Amino acid sequence: MQPKFSPLTPKFPHLLHGGDYNPEQWLDHPEILDQDIALFQKAHINCVSLGIFSWANLEPQQDYFTFDWLDRIIDQLYQNGIYTILATPSGARPQWLAQKYPEVLRVNADGTKNLFGARHNHCYTSPAYRERVRIIDTRLAERYANHPAVILWHISNEFGGECHCELCQVAFRTWVQKKYGTLDALNRAWWAHFWSHTYTDWSQIHSPSPLGETSIHGLVLDWRRFVTQQTIDFMRTEIDAVKAVNSDIPVTTNMMTHYTYELNYYKFRDALDVISWDNYPEWHKPNSQIWAAESCSMTHDMMRSIQKKPFLMMECTPNTTNWHPVSKLKKPGMHKLSVLNAIAHGADSGQYFQLRQSRGSCEKFHSAVISHIGTEHTRTFREVAQVGAELERLSDLIYNSRTPVQVAIIHDVENKWALDQCRGPRNAGIDYFGAVQNNYRYFWENGINIDLVDSEYDLDGYRLVIVPMLYLFRAGIQEKLRQFVAQGGTLVTTCFTGVVDENDLCFLGEATEEKLSDVMGFWVEEIDGLFDGEENHMTWQNQRYRLYELCEIVHPTTCEVLATYESDFYQDMPALTRNRFGKGVAYHLCATAESRFFLDFYDMLTRQLGLERAMQTTVPYGVSLTWRETAQGQKLIFAQNFSAETKHLPLDQAYTDLLNDTTEHGICTLAPYTCKIVTPQQYS
Ligand code: GAL
Repeated sequence: MQPKFSPLTPKFPHLLHGGDYNPEQWLDHPEILDQDIALFQKAHINCVSLGIFSWANLEPQQDYFTFDWLDRIIDQLYQNGIYTILATPSGARPQWLAQKYPEVLRVNADGTKNLFGARHNHCYTSPAYRERVRIIDTRLAERYANHPAVILWHISNEFGGECHCELCQVAFRTWVQKKYGTLDALNRAWWAHFWSHTYTDWSQIHSPSPLGETSIHGLVLDWRRFVTQQTIDFMRTEIDAVKAVNSDIPVTTNMMTHYTYELNYYKFRDALDVISWDNYPEWHKPNSQIWAAESCSMTHDMMRSIQKKPFLMMECTPNTTNWHPVSKLKKPGMHKLSVLNAIAHGADSGQYFQLRQSRGSCEKFHSAVISHIGTEHTRTFREVAQVGAELERLSDLIYNSRTPVQVAIIHDVENKWALDQCRGPRNAGIDYFGAVQNNYRYFWENGINIDLVDSEYDLDGYRLVIVPMLYLFRAGIQEKLRQFVAQGGTLVTTCFTGVVDENDLCFLGEATEEKLSDVMGFWVEEIDGLFDGEENHMTWQNQRYRLYELCEIVHPTTCEVLATYESDFYQDMPALTRNRFGKGVAYHLCATAESRFFLDFYDMLTRQLGLERAMQTTVPYGVSLTWRETAQGQKLIFAQNFSAETKHLPLDQAYTDLLNDTTEHGICTLAPYTCKIVTPQQYS
């Protein structure tokens, strides 16, 4: 029997169904609030996120607080069975604050200072900003942290971006000085003698800028690390303020797919009680519907992996998103499918941006549960209400269930930063996210749960670890991977792995432990960048595969060669290798390969390792299977059809359809854009 995680909050240990609600936009329409609450109930909304951008309404002038409107709303919602996720308002500041304390406004990398406007337009270092945020957060906590309705703190909103003001420069210099201790160590780590960029005084350190320094890769990497650290530091001051009043209310901050490579989200894991994120795929884009489903599933898996426990989908759109190039409507069924997809991958919620549509400003055409029409008589409302009813019905079974995993991909944000600036074999583009997704695809398509962790995570419990293009080896990763293989694990690495250390300095020598040559059984001599459209090939197990982008030229020491290059001057040299090391085995793909190779290759490994699958079946293209497991060991399988065609899934045994209470056996029919949640019949 698997241990059950303690619930996020004992106040409401259920799947959450709700979203961002901005009643401060409607304070002069009191009738709207009453209507909204009645509609929320019809839509089975059990929580709302309040106060996210409400600072100007909470503190219209410095130190003059107006909480009465929020009091009324929280109370009224609670009396109607709806809980509150309360935000700190630091994501956007009031005009008066920026006017009185100009230091709070951001400075760009080129030194220009922003005017007031937009949101997230503030300096995280500014003492004035931190102090005003601390004051408003404390006041909010004093007023609401002991309110029975408040179940979670939503700290700020989608932290992101960076500031290059003088306060940030000083903070960066202090951070760098603490890290390196001496200028000599710094100059060595950053290879600063190159082009005579040697630092002779700490005051010479400046953030990377298009008008200044970008050629020192160690500086750029450290700046990105600093930005993440400074963001977390700012967030922690907010967390401290609210926890000081009542430490029992858990905290989260909503992350954003598009910032996955801006901030290193893995570093947030210890600061938060639960991970949450905002999910906005481009559904129904021609020829990429399945790709969108796969990539957002991969991000769900990443979010679950950060704390290796259930997470929240804090936002998704009930219908159309108004900032994509084309604001496509979700086709019937797609909304429910997208919420169940999040839950399939470990989310304990389906939450929306937004509950009521804005009347003006730049989000007025973003969809909402309650549209400008203002009634329940819309397709969007009906679909949302249906989702709510079903989550309510399945909550006891699904809430807090775990995701058993035997496979991990190492997906490392610092590696992405280093690859982006490497000026190496292909400046025309090296697609790191694509490399990760190519390795992810087989597992997503074949009902095998998978984690995405970064280089700092331990690898206990995994049977297969995949390391796509891990160009940057952070200290300690070599020993972790070595031990993993030595003790019987299966490791797969792909080209351009183990090239630089954590300071972005190239490893020296031929076959060295630093490069993991002992585990891999070869050494790399050169790497060829291929032009767009140029290709090589390899044949493995009688199948010929296209290779493109990058081709490494490697020399075996102890490895076997499983496939060789078909052409060019490195014809007949290794393209795919296998090395037995200790009790385990390490495979290496020397080039970027077409997706089909990964599907065949991981099929072989899955059979060989006997990896657990959602069910023993052949999954039709466009369908994805994922499963969660209850504390009693009951398997909850989510069969999701993301395609526009009906799909037929052969079943390996009889299942109970948990949404309809029917038996499924033989062939399970999945209509377009639908999901069935089934459990093996012995449990029902
Ligand atoms: C999110 C953001 C929300 C809203 C939404 C619109 O990224 O957190 O406040 O702007 O996008 O899709």
